Amino acid sequence: MIDGSKYLRNNIKNLPPSGIRRFFDLASHMEGVISLGVGEPDFVTPWHIREACFYSLEKGYTMYTANAGMIELREEIAKYMYRWQNLVYNPETEILVTVGVSEAIDLAFRVLLEDGDEVLIPEPSYVSYVPGTIMAGGTPVMLDTREEDEFRLTRDELARKITPRSKLLLLTYPNNPTGGIMRREDLMDLVDLIVANDLIVISDEIYGELTYDGKHVSIATLPGMKERTVVMNGFSKAFAMTGWRIGYACGNRDIIGAMNKLHQYTILCAPIMGQMAALEALKHGEAEMRRMVEDYDYRRRLILKGLKDIGLPSFEPRGAFYVFPSISVTGMSSLEFSEQLLKEEKVAVVPGNAFGKSGEGFVRICYAYSVDHIEKALERMGDFIARHHV
Ligand SMILES: Cc1ncc(COP(=O)(O)O)c(C=O)c1O
Repeated sequence: MIDGSKYLRNNIKNLPPSGIRRFFDLASHMEGVISLGVGEPDFVTPWHIREACFYSLEKGYTMYTANAGMIELREEIAKYMYRWQNLVYNPETEILVTVGVSEAIDLAFRVLLEDGDEVLIPEPSYVSYVPGTIMAGGTPVMLDTREEDEFRLTRDELARKITPRSKLLLLTYPNNPTGGIMRREDLMDLVDLIVANDLIVISDEIYGELTYDGKHVSIATLPGMKERTVVMNGFSKAFAMTGWRIGYACGNRDIIGAMNKLHQYTILCAPIMGQMAALEALKHGEAEMRRMVEDYDYRRRLILKGLKDIGLPSFEPRGAFYVFPSISVTGMSSLEFSEQLLKEEKVAVVPGNAFGKSGEGFVRICYAYSVDHIEKALERMGDFIARHHV
């Protein structure tokens, strides 16, 4: 058999596998593991959304759609962005339906980055941004965020890391892995720097609907920011539709047009079944989505109190469905902590360093799990902390 690896590009060979996946492969070989690891809603997609897909199949909707996505869906996205964020986008030219936010991020990097362009990425960071930047020829520049700032990006840190090669600023609020949010005033602090340095913002707002302390503010709503922001969102988290693989990008027509060009050559279009379901989600799914958000909020409070009670207090995450407690009371590294917890108590959490070096000393816990599941995990974690508290 030939050695296939010798044909691979160096930058793909050198790319480490995701720290999250590696950890879950480990957990999947053990029995009786309680996982608080995977960042995915535990709800099944609401019935009326699944039903809309069945009907569309019965009616024979099995073909390609327009490259940019069904116009009916883009129109609904435009209406949704207006009623939710007061943002006006032209469905013909400023909205692209993608295979999840994942594809939208990849397209944006590939149409915007020249070799050596710098992408400013707040850290801890969602795992796909650094590899995506590298694969598109860009250079990731990490911006540190700290627990004492509730993991918000500060103006000082942004100013410190901007160089003449800075091209993109990636914002993910509410944040994965920290659950941190940026309030309007936090975002306002960054605006003149972004404009003065002619940065384009990629705003991954996939957790935008999941906020527990007031409504999410998109940076595109701030003065002068709409034209230089590509807002990305999707159906995976808020509508419990991870497997349907539908997301969207809204922004400047030239950038969206270029993304559509690449999308048309590589993907052709997002799957019609997912688009049909997404259309139903936007037309009739908001009440159900709000109910799921209320449920997450209940579990968020439950886990925050539970963690405090076992001696692992966390700053209060105000969005997404993650808590990011410091594990300093154990004196362990985040990898040691996660591995020992898995071995001794069969509870899976994600080591914070999987999200970059500023995640060291923390673990990511997802609370999109049933109350019973969360309570059992907390009990086991309590025993673990009692044994390892230094
Ligand atoms: C911050 C962030 N962006 C994007 C994604 C991927 O979203 P999608 O399912 O729409 O591709 C995830 C999934 O966990 C995420 O956490």
